[in-house]
Amino acid sequence: MKSQRRKNVKYRFKDSQISYDSQGNLEFYGIPLSHALKAKATASLKNHEPVYLYSQAQIRDRAQSFMKQLKSALKQEVSVHYAMKANFHPQLLKLLKSQGLGIDVVSIGELKIALKAGFKPQQIIYSGVGKTETEITQAIRLKIFQLNVESVAELSRVGRIADQLKIPIHIGVRVNPGVNPQTHPYIATGFRENKFGIDPSQMGPVIALFKKHKNLRYQGLSLHIGSQLFDFSALSEALQITLKMDGEMEAQGLPSKVLDVGGGIGVDYTANSESVDPKTLENFLQVLSTHLRGVKKKICLEPGRFIVARSGVLLTEVQYVKETPHKKFIIVNTGMHHLLRPALYQAEHRILPLRKSGSGPLQTVDVVGPICESSDVIGRNRSLPQVQEGDWLAIADAGAYGYSMASHYNSFALPKEIFID
Ligand code: LLP
Repeated sequence: MKSQRRKNVKYRFKDSQISYDSQGNLEFYGIPLSHALKAKATASLKNHEPVYLYSQAQIRDRAQSFMKQLKSALKQEVSVHYAMKANFHPQLLKLLKSQGLGIDVVSIGELKIALKAGFKPQQIIYSGVGKTETEITQAIRLKIFQLNVESVAELSRVGRIADQLKIPIHIGVRVNPGVNPQTHPYIATGFRENKFGIDPSQMGPVIALFKKHKNLRYQGLSLHIGSQLFDFSALSEALQITLKMDGEMEAQGLPSKVLDVGGGIGVDYTANSESVDPKTLENFLQVLSTHLRGVKKKICLEPGRFIVARSGVLLTEVQYVKETPHKKFIIVNTGMHHLLRPALYQAEHRILPLRKSGSGPLQTVDVVGPICESSDVIGRNRSLPQVQEGDWLAIADAGAYGYSMASHYNSFALPKEIFID
């Protein structure tokens, strides 16, 4: 399966992303986190508030390395459209833009943030199942690169609006390939029962709409079967189905210029970046290069998590150590309102004290937040060294779907976000 060309690619990220130095200080991409807290997040330290820290160097290196490896794996023109739902901080967006990435948005709100960060309309892919009249109108007026439609009804609405405005719009038709992406059910999108994409059996009405509306410009098919993918066999199956459909569309008079293969590359939250991510990326690229060999189209990707998850940590202060006859809890000042992933997807983000204590025994604890819900557990049955009130902990790999999914639930404030380099 491995081609000669791919053997020469070096899969190396510059991490060590998060690890202890010889004195027991937790370092994040080479910066001791307790120093960063004192120097950069003094208000959070003083006010006992949690804070998201992001490493600019990590974001830059990661994006560069991703682009390089992608370009050496695929012969075609490629463009990476970062899925900004993962993290929409303007500074992070600007950094990714400077590394040559485009952007994938799912609402007019995201689209406006992307424009403000400097992305050009021609770098924007707009996805999502529920675009309103207003959102579609604005996207058409802006002349974005590609609007991905997810239903026959949506394509019909886009066609009507584009003809009324007399402005052409380039369309990606998102396919629902009906595969099992082998991921958490809440982030699987490729099953035929999911709300996403158009069933292959409905291509007849899709083709008819392209013929009816003169301002609908067919650009190509698009695909995104789910998030947190490690086994890419379902992607392989989905690509075969999509390429076959692409040929059928062409036979019906609709040749394509683009193939959008989505995102979904997984991040193993229980392991350090350098020990697992290169292999995950290698497996993903291998599937792409195998199926896309000889495909003469521009290839677009929409990764979110893989680009930014490792770039952020959420720092939190221990409020109480609570021992009951049955359980030991470390109660901290952050929780499901700031990082929903453990409660919603049972994600196991690593939790590491900023200072590694000496020789004491490890204890089994639940690390929990202040929210009035029993699901507000950041880490269940974790082995941690002894910690006490006032100690700080780092919750690792919180750069994707952390702050972007945070809420004011229970009327707590949102954490600050600070960049370090
Ligand atoms: N493209 C489309 C159309 C998507 O729906 C998504 C993610 C992506 C790209 C980017 O996927 P990624 O490369 O980040 O896996 N909140 C969940 C993840 C939800 C993903 C939704 N769609 C989590 O924290 O795991």
